Amino acid sequence: MNSFGRNLRSGERLVASVESDRQHTRAPLRVALPTALRVVDVHKSYRRRGIEVPVLQGVDLHINEGRFTSIVGQSGSGKSTLLHLLGTLDRPDRGEIWCDQQRIDNLPSQQRERLRNRTFGMIFQFYHLLPELTTLENVMVPKMIEHSVWRFWRHKRTIVERATTLLERLGLSHRLHHRPSQLSGGEMQRAAIARSLMSQPSILLADEPTGNLDRQNGQLVMESLLSLCRDEQLTIVMVTHDESIAKQADHRVQLVDGRVACA
Ligand SMILES: Nc1ncnc2c1ncn2[C@@H]1O[C@H](COP(=O)(O)OP(=O)(O)OP(=O)(O)O)[C@@H](O)[C@H]1O
Ligand SMILES: [Mg+2]
Repeated sequence: MNSFGRNLRSGERLVASVESDRQHTRAPLRVALPTALRVVDVHKSYRRRGIEVPVLQGVDLHINEGRFTSIVGQSGSGKSTLLHLLGTLDRPDRGEIWCDQQRIDNLPSQQRERLRNRTFGMIFQFYHLLPELTTLENVMVPKMIEHSVWRFWRHKRTIVERATTLLERLGLSHRLHHRPSQLSGGEMQRAAIARSLMSQPSILLADEPTGNLDRQNGQLVMESLLSLCRDEQLTIVMVTHDESIAKQADHRVQLVDGRVACA
C-alpha cells in the first residue's frame, strides 16, 4: 500500500497502459479501460416559476477508471448539474447512472450517503474550509464526521498522520497550523483537495477547482490533480471554464444544448 492506502500493485498494469496512451495521445486505446462511471440518456430539468427549464437532455458518457476527464461548456450548460448527479447529490429525472457495476441514481438515501462518503471525493471552486480550524484540522473534518467522538480519539494518531501525509503530498507541510485566512487561494484549494482525499475515494469530482485562482496557482492545483491521477490511479472528473486547463486532461467532454457534443 502506498501513502494513500491504495493498491498500487494491481494498478501497475493500468499505469503502464495509461502512460503508453498518454505518449500517443491521439491514438486509439488498444485495451479498453474499466469504466468507473457510466451515464445513460440522463435528463434533468429545473422548475422556475412553474415553468420547466430543461438542462440535461440525454447525456451519455463513459468515465474510465484512473483517467482524468474534463467537462467544459458555456455558463448554464449544466456542468455542475451533471457533476452533482454523478456524485449522487441530486437525482436525474430520467436515465441511469452506474458506478462500477452498480446503478446509483435510484439508490435509497442512506446508500447514496455511504457511497458519497466512501467512493467520491468532492472539491468546489470556493474551498468551503472552516475558518476557525487550522489546515490540518480542516483536512481531518471528514473523519470527525464519520467517526463517533470516542472512535475519533482512539484513532486520532493515525488520522493526524494521514492528514499530514496528504498535506505534505500537496506541498503544504509548512502550512499545517495556519488558518484558512492565512493561506493563499491556491493553498486553500490544495487543502480542500487533501480534505477530499481523507476518506480514500476512488473518484474525485471537482467543480471549477481553478476557477477562483490566478493562472500560476491554477496550474499548481492542476499539477497536483494530474499527479494524483497518474501516481495514485485516482479517477478525476473536473468541470472547468478554462480551455488551457481542460486540455491537460486525458479526455475532454463538451456539453452543448444539454448533450455531450464531442468526447
Ligand atoms: N436548483 C436550481 N433550480 C433552478 N434552476 C437551476 C438550479 N440549479 C441550476 N439551475 C439552472 O440550471 C442551469 C444549469 O446550471 P449549472 O449550474 O449546472 O450550469 P453550469 O454549466 O455549471 O454553469 P457555470 O459555468 O456558470 O457554473 C442554469 O440555467 C441554472 O440557472
Ligand atoms: Mg457550475
